[in-house]
Amino acid sequence: MLGPVLLAAARSDRMRRVVAAAPVTRPVVDRFVAGDELSPAMDTVRSLTASGLEVTLDHLGEDVTDKTTARATRDAYLRLLDTLRHDGLGTRAEVSVKLSAFGQALPDGGHDIALANVRQVAELAAEVGTTVTLDMEDHTTVDSTLAILRELRREHPGTGAVLQSYLFRTEEDARALAVAGSRVRLVKGAYKEPASVAFQDKADVDKAYVRALRVLFAGEGYPMVGSHDPRMIAIAQDLAARNHRPAGSYEFQMLYGIRTAEQRRLADEGHRMRIYVPYGADWYGYFMRRLAERPANLAFFLRSFLPA
Ligand code: FDA
Repeated sequence: MLGPVLLAAARSDRMRRVVAAAPVTRPVVDRFVAGDELSPAMDTVRSLTASGLEVTLDHLGEDVTDKTTARATRDAYLRLLDTLRHDGLGTRAEVSVKLSAFGQALPDGGHDIALANVRQVAELAAEVGTTVTLDMEDHTTVDSTLAILRELRREHPGTGAVLQSYLFRTEEDARALAVAGSRVRLVKGAYKEPASVAFQDKADVDKAYVRALRVLFAGEGYPMVGSHDPRMIAIAQDLAARNHRPAGSYEFQMLYGIRTAEQRRLADEGHRMRIYVPYGADWYGYFMRRLAERPANLAFFLRSFLPA
């Protein structure tokens, strides 16, 4: 029951101020976020990649309301890619972007502003020898995000997309994207969505996840299994075997700080395992979505308010 409340709070500026000001918040945030700055995040990236894992980096931020901040997001990603190039990490680390941080929601021409900003990021990523994946946000952004994906893929076919199994439309989107060279991360979905567009029951979201997985594994593209759910991971392994997919023709992805032993186990079994590493000062929305996903995380957070 608390999930929807937390997801609503994830978009409240008032709650943002309350949570950010609480001194006990930081240690809990640190569990999910690799630092406010690029430098500590790069320490995490170096240690993960040295241990055989791969990485996708997210410079935290979303829902920007002016062009200057949108350009600042682009510049943060350009700096990040320069650092990956400098450190020779282009083959082990890619980047994930939220188009709402690139200006997608701006009233006058937001779609084109986001496309122009993200195109520069995709160009530098290609020079560095890596890729960009477009995170998926709430359902109102899906058409615009998939249109930007189509534009970017003309010049950079390795640009990745994210599909969310809770949306009714996703099985069809998965069919359209299960084509050669297409990288698709399948997730369950992390936003508060109305019953008119999305399954509300966890069991239905899980069933839809399996249906979309089947489409992606049977297709010609490169599935990226974005889930911590042991059932989804086992089903993906089974589908890889049934579709005669060799290791390296698909990958698993998990979030930084979540099920780290399972991340290690899959990598040790020879699977490509990529960790989504968020960093930056604008961690509030991301953090609240992680609390909403798991009551145990919320309990951990609330307990930290109690006197020792
Ligand atoms: P589910 O929520 O059913 O959890 C299964 C098990 O995983 C739990 O029982 C628990 O053991 C563990 N677990 C899950 N969440 C946890 C948490 N927060 N803390 C601790 N343990 C947890 N969403 C989106 O809308 N757009 C996007 O672009 C992305 N991008 C993305 C990238 C990657 C790499 C991942 C892994 C996930 C996303 N997501 C996302 C988030 C996704 O939609 C979803 O909310 C979470 O992954 C949780 O769903 P699970 O599939 O893990 O299963």
